[in-house]
Amino acid sequence: MAVDRGTFGRLGFVLAAVGSAIGLGNIWKFPYITYANEGGSFVLVYLIAVALIGAPIMLAEVMIGRRTQANPVAAFATLGAGVPGGRWWRIAGGLGVITGFVLLSYYAVIAGWTVFYFGKGIGWSVRGFDLEGPALSEYFGGFLANGPLQILFHAIFIALTVGVVMLGVKAGIERTTKLLMPVLGVILLLLLINSFSTPGFGEALRFLFHVGPLDAGAALEAVGHAFFTLSLGMGAMVTYGSYMARNSSIPRASLAICVLDTLVALCACIVMFSIIFSVPEAERATTFQRSATILFTTLPHMFYGMAFGKILAPLFYILVAFAALTSTISILEVVVSYLVDVRGWARQKAAPAVGVAVFLLGIPCALSLGASPGLSGWRPLGAVATGVFDTFDYTVSNWLLPIGGLLTAIFAGWLLSSKLEREELEQGHGRFPLFGVWKFALRFVGPIAILWILYAVVQGRSFA
Ligand code: PHE
Repeated sequence: MAVDRGTFGRLGFVLAAVGSAIGLGNIWKFPYITYANEGGSFVLVYLIAVALIGAPIMLAEVMIGRRTQANPVAAFATLGAGVPGGRWWRIAGGLGVITGFVLLSYYAVIAGWTVFYFGKGIGWSVRGFDLEGPALSEYFGGFLANGPLQILFHAIFIALTVGVVMLGVKAGIERTTKLLMPVLGVILLLLLINSFSTPGFGEALRFLFHVGPLDAGAALEAVGHAFFTLSLGMGAMVTYGSYMARNSSIPRASLAICVLDTLVALCACIVMFSIIFSVPEAERATTFQRSATILFTTLPHMFYGMAFGKILAPLFYILVAFAALTSTISILEVVVSYLVDVRGWARQKAAPAVGVAVFLLGIPCALSLGASPGLSGWRPLGAVATGVFDTFDYTVSNWLLPIGGLLTAIFAGWLLSSKLEREELEQGHGRFPLFGVWKFALRFVGPIAILWILYAVVQGRSFA
């Protein structure tokens, strides 16, 4: 039975895919790992990784999706039929579905925080901001330790995600991303313009673009992050590619996704670092933690100290929430499209069912950041990760996404026929002169870099 799976319009595809790519990875994770790694060289390696490893795999994933018009499991199974390994390749797609499931369970927890801080920001703007310096960290710690609140906001975010995915590819995903992405662009632009006039702006730029020494571990972290931020290695781009119209160009769309994702990551850094570097150096060490909590402990304090802060602070949190939502819908869609295509479920049933399961899996994550001492101290993998949340993030970022990316690179680089690939990449595009360069990157650069990462992970280096 042929079911109409839905097709994105040309702009719709790019916005949905850009929405998937731009998320907490750009606005929360990238600035804090860049800050922790002293900027400059780290940013440079990240940019190289996006161009040489990320972009080619992006092209491959979208190509596999559009060629087969199917979810990742069926896509790998169909194309795998003609190559060594045969239908076993569906395991590569299945791995993506499992990865998506785990990723969503903890991603939605942090996404929930952004909704909470949006509400809090409005409250602070209206009633006045009363938490100075350490009080803000204490407040955040209290929020993390509040189990019911953690679960509530996690649930709210999953519910929003399920709501959009239930509406379907066009009426849900395309319409939401078409609405939210431009809003996100405008808010980010406003914040960026505002940062030009902060005293820390110049230093923020210097910090981002000066080139200094870099240790190998940080270089590996930059490569791993390129996967995370581009939504690669778990079938998200295969799934979205399967809804791409045949007259759209895969190379042009992929380029747009990579460029926009990178620009937003850099802008987010400029916005945040301009604020951070506006504080005198001597005070910085006592005011800021170089950690994952920057977004929630440092920024509110800074926002309310500056002109227009009352407007910018809530705007900023809603921006992060929008960015996260357009990512979580793409993650949920991977799992839902599998259940709909392969298992024959109705979308209206699959989305809430997966939502409930992900919500349940996310509860221990939500409670493992302070609310439950047992879950917060859980160390099934030894010293590399502490607590359920960290353990999940470690497993996904350091293992599942790189392995998924590696399998895709091997599959498209070594096994699929060049004729088929060229045909698909040129469909809706015209001649693709960079085909040879793309193939080289996929065959050698990507796999070698990824194996290097996995080796480093085995050696015990975490870069979650
Ligand atoms: N790219 C998203 C971000 O940067 C995260 C993501 C990873 C989304 C994998 C989908 C698939 O936040």
